Amino acid sequence: PVDQRVDDLLSRMTLPEKVGQMLQLDARGDVKEIVSEKLAGSILHTSPAKMLEAIDLVAKTRLQIPLLTAEDCIHGHSFWPGATIFPTQLGMAASWDPELLERVARVTAVEVAATGIHWTFSPVLCITRDLRWGRVDETFGEDPFLIGELGAAMIRGYQGGGLGDPTAILATAKHFAGYSETQGGRDASEADISPRKLRSWFLPPFERVAKEGCRVFMLGYQSMDGVPITANKWLLNDVLKGEWGFTGTLVTDWDNVGRMVWEQKVCADYAEAAAVAVKAGNDLVMVTPGFFEGAQEAVERGLLAEEEIDEAVRRILRLKFELGLFEDPRAPSVERQREVIGAPAHAELNLEVARRSLVLLKNDGVLPLSLEKFRRIAVIGPNADDVSAQLGDWAGDSGQVDWLPDGHPRELTETVLDGFRAVAPSEWVIEHARGAEIERLVPDPEGDTYPDGQPRPPISQGAPVDHHLIDVARDKAIRSDYAVVVVGDTVNLTGEHKSTATLELQGGQIALLDAIAATKTPMIVVLVNSKPTVLPPSALDAAAIIQAFNPGMRGGRAIAELVLGLIEPSGRLPLSVARHVGQQPVYYNTIRGQHGSRYADLTQDPLFAFGEGLSYTTITYGDLTVTTPTVAEPDTVRATVTLTNSGTRPALETVQVYVSDLVTSVTWAGRELKAYRQVTVPPGEQLTVELEVPASACSLVTADGRRVVEPGDFELLVGPSSRERDLLRAPFTIA
Ligand code: IFM
Repeated sequence: PVDQRVDDLLSRMTLPEKVGQMLQLDARGDVKEIVSEKLAGSILHTSPAKMLEAIDLVAKTRLQIPLLTAEDCIHGHSFWPGATIFPTQLGMAASWDPELLERVARVTAVEVAATGIHWTFSPVLCITRDLRWGRVDETFGEDPFLIGELGAAMIRGYQGGGLGDPTAILATAKHFAGYSETQGGRDASEADISPRKLRSWFLPPFERVAKEGCRVFMLGYQSMDGVPITANKWLLNDVLKGEWGFTGTLVTDWDNVGRMVWEQKVCADYAEAAAVAVKAGNDLVMVTPGFFEGAQEAVERGLLAEEEIDEAVRRILRLKFELGLFEDPRAPSVERQREVIGAPAHAELNLEVARRSLVLLKNDGVLPLSLEKFRRIAVIGPNADDVSAQLGDWAGDSGQVDWLPDGHPRELTETVLDGFRAVAPSEWVIEHARGAEIERLVPDPEGDTYPDGQPRPPISQGAPVDHHLIDVARDKAIRSDYAVVVVGDTVNLTGEHKSTATLELQGGQIALLDAIAATKTPMIVVLVNSKPTVLPPSALDAAAIIQAFNPGMRGGRAIAELVLGLIEPSGRLPLSVARHVGQQPVYYNTIRGQHGSRYADLTQDPLFAFGEGLSYTTITYGDLTVTTPTVAEPDTVRATVTLTNSGTRPALETVQVYVSDLVTSVTWAGRELKAYRQVTVPPGEQLTVELEVPASACSLVTADGRRVVEPGDFELLVGPSSRERDLLRAPFTIA
């Protein structure tokens, strides 16, 4: 019946009405023009008032086709005062827990749906390559398998029981594909990726979610081998829709179609660009108002057949029917918002995720602090009491919407300082000092707008060292038993078009760390940062280091709980941490056999590797046994490993399973994550864990671009991180 309804409606539509359906426009503009003149089928970045205005205007159009409203709600409802803001995707990825992320996405969908938004541009399935890239915080890290697991879970959560469920929202797998292979970390640069490389690392998470029923894919911005992604017919049509059988909808990124004219200059005008984009397989065109006239002209000039437009419109209308928008436009509901936005159960889940997202990277034994004695704690640093840094990008105050100038209410976020004040024993003295500024914003010398009129963000320069701030912080550290120093970055140093040339701590932060280290008060460094930071020696020598990323509204409490031993540390790094900016890229699954790639002046090893993270106990791995020494597809490789907890506290251990194909027809990664299990090991106990890897997962991409399993000898590598020295090995054969 949906197909019939789609065909019936389509048969009654004029060409301008069809082209309008393909347009998604920025609701910060004139809604009357968007709905009544451009006949747009979708809007983004809208406010409740504009949404209601748009619904009224749609009612006055000839066919009254409901609007699809979209927003970047990527770690909670980004743009709604009081909505639940979770840790960033990178932070949540440190939990390695798909079930937890599915719950996060479900809660997000419930809050988002109540505000009249039908569609979120999440999750990001790009793999992190160069840490200088501004969007590392939006990824699940560097490993294609982990990304696929977590991405699929979030999509299940968003799409709920099916699109007809009024609390379901459309999920978007983005950015399809290869966008993160930047040059020097710079956003939207030409990506140097062959089709084989794309298939090897960048496509697997997308293929996984296409097959799991993700309904929308969004493009990136980059071009590959001379072809703008928007024009990449091979990838969009042949691979996605053909090979993988994707029947969902494709949306471009922001003005991708226009960029082919005014930026990439591969099309002479909007008619040509519209024809190229539609023929390549794009359905919805994000914020290219000129597509409206361009696509119609393309049909007139014979560059595009109306039937090709029909195909795209069909896919868009199908979504609208499946969402039930013709029966109920799913307008914002104040009553529903009161019920669900920031509901106590959502705040509870947020705290659970924040706890699970913290990665303990170093501990000389100082943690957890004993609660038995009276203590003075100095909570120091520019991010110790900073809501914006704690929430991260896409969280209300980073300029993406114009109707929410003040971001989220202050009282809903528990900063690290708030956390210590809330959970430390009441007689303890908690002191606070800012200690340093991170940045000074200066106008970009190239002007304050891009060629397309979009605002160009200011440049964030390191703030000068403020000796007065440091002196105040040092005095407080000297008077204290412990100094918790919270350093990191700001929202101006992360996001789209906000890549960084450096990875070092900016402004007065290094001087602050040096000064606190010199006091000899034991220092616990907490990193509230969008992405891994290169640490100075004073931080590396600290008694403990906690990687918190942007831990969301409840993150400060979770950090205090961790320091005080009220919870167990369980996060594992979803990406490798560099020692120096010059080590980029530094991911673990590099191609083997690069004997010359060692630096003469620095080890090639990352500072902390993918998968690393400590607990408050000691877990030893032993007795790795492969119980199926020879398998053939479609069998499963099975193994067991024994974990012994010789400490006094429980651990939530992430048992990581890597595979190495010993001889390959092409150069290939030395090891790749293929499975993992999370198990709780009680203190003093031993646990045997069963592990499974499908033989079909032990594949590679051949020189002619086919993904195959090459029979032969393999090794299973099992342990607590991706580091060679942490892994037990056992052979197996695929016949
Ligand atoms: O969803 C985003 C995308 O990730 C980057 N460009 C803008 C889109 C809409 O805000």
